[in-house]
Amino acid sequence: MKITVVGTGYVGLVTGTCLAETGNEVVCVDIDKEKVNTMRNGNVPIYEPHLDVLFERNIEANRLKFTTSLDEGLEHGEIVFLALPTPEDEDGSADLSYVLNVSSEIGKKIKTYKVIVDKSTVPVGTAEKVKAVIAENASCDFDVVSNPEFLREGFAVDDFLKPERIVIGSSSEKATQLMQKLYAPFVRSGNPIIVMDEKSAELTKYAANSFLATKITFMNEIANYCEKVGADVDKVRAGMGTDSRIGKRFLFPGIGYGGSCFPKDVKALQKAGKNENYDFKILNSVIEVNKNQKTILLPKIEDYFKGDLQGKQIAIWGLAFKPETDDVREAPAIDMMNGLLKKGAKLTVFDPEAIPNIKKQFGDKLNYADSMYQALEGAEVLLICTEWSIFRTPDFSRIKKELKNPTIFDGRNLYNVDDVKKEGFKYVSIGRN
Ligand code: UDX
Repeated sequence: MKITVVGTGYVGLVTGTCLAETGNEVVCVDIDKEKVNTMRNGNVPIYEPHLDVLFERNIEANRLKFTTSLDEGLEHGEIVFLALPTPEDEDGSADLSYVLNVSSEIGKKIKTYKVIVDKSTVPVGTAEKVKAVIAENASCDFDVVSNPEFLREGFAVDDFLKPERIVIGSSSEKATQLMQKLYAPFVRSGNPIIVMDEKSAELTKYAANSFLATKITFMNEIANYCEKVGADVDKVRAGMGTDSRIGKRFLFPGIGYGGSCFPKDVKALQKAGKNENYDFKILNSVIEVNKNQKTILLPKIEDYFKGDLQGKQIAIWGLAFKPETDDVREAPAIDMMNGLLKKGAKLTVFDPEAIPNIKKQFGDKLNYADSMYQALEGAEVLLICTEWSIFRTPDFSRIKKELKNPTIFDGRNLYNVDDVKKEGFKYVSIGRN
């Protein structure tokens, strides 16, 4: 099938590449000339495991092309994905200006039937708005479909190629059939394509992300309480998670959730509720608890240094909001670093992928290390903010040798408490004493 993807951000790029992988002819449109040139030369502009291999393969096979021209894109595809940014407005709601501006252009330009697919996470009612904006100028038939994505950064290729479900919000039989044909190769395993109305599809995405953020936040509160009463959150988690109604996943406590989706989507649903005079009390709490959770280790580090962090050198492992990504949006490490810098601490940081993105924000306020062990040189203590695999089985004797004080503050519960203590460390983690 002939597919156009407008917007080559994270979602657009993964969508375009994976749709090309199943034999579709895909044209990706982006206004950023430099980015389009980079991609034409076979370079993926983001870090995402396995994407580069698929990317190169499909460019070589001539199934994946890039252009800055929306006209060219619309000439090509029968299905047009909108994978455009919906940033957070000042008031927390989703800013639809990119989606609606492109939709208006589409209305003016299309000459033959198209299915316009909202792939971005958008508030309930957006498909209706997109439809109205296109209809203002369209001289041919078209349908608008909502098709939220559930990709996780770091696993996006796998999630796209083997989705647990595909949600399609559509009120047109013709569009639904085209979408089902497009996605059929991805659900051969029997996973469902769930067809519903557009509004329910739009809400499904917000509900799923907000539920997951709530699940994590609930565990973070249980972890904080464990510390008060001397319980071990690892044991509580295992005891709870084996109940299939609860499930084992997304029960890992830590220094809060971050990233480009959860924080933005939870706030957007909260705001959308307010617009309808509905107060999502549970989401208000999730937002508040997560904000506090991001710096939950800060007072503990301060206590450790008896309130005086001035000039204290602290090593930090992990800056990305989670492993296997260079994304630092809403990363807990940022809140921790801002808090520590404010108290006068000196920070030497290491992350396998995220240093360039952190440098853009922090510049020379931080010292950047080339390796996890180099970050420890001259540091008093170690703070871990992201659970990258390479941090999981470190050489503890080397850490001990480098640090002035053998102390680890672990925001991601990477190690067995007894093991680390046996190695001679003071070990402060989340929900375990
Ligand atoms: C999420 C959703 O999982 C995905 O379906 C949606 O399309 C986009 O948002 P992503 O933001 O890539 O994906 O990351 P995810 O792996 O879900 O983690 C989100 C945050 O939650 C991270 O900060 C992570 O550290 C945190 N998390 C996750 C926990 O703190 N504990 C857990 O048990 C799981």
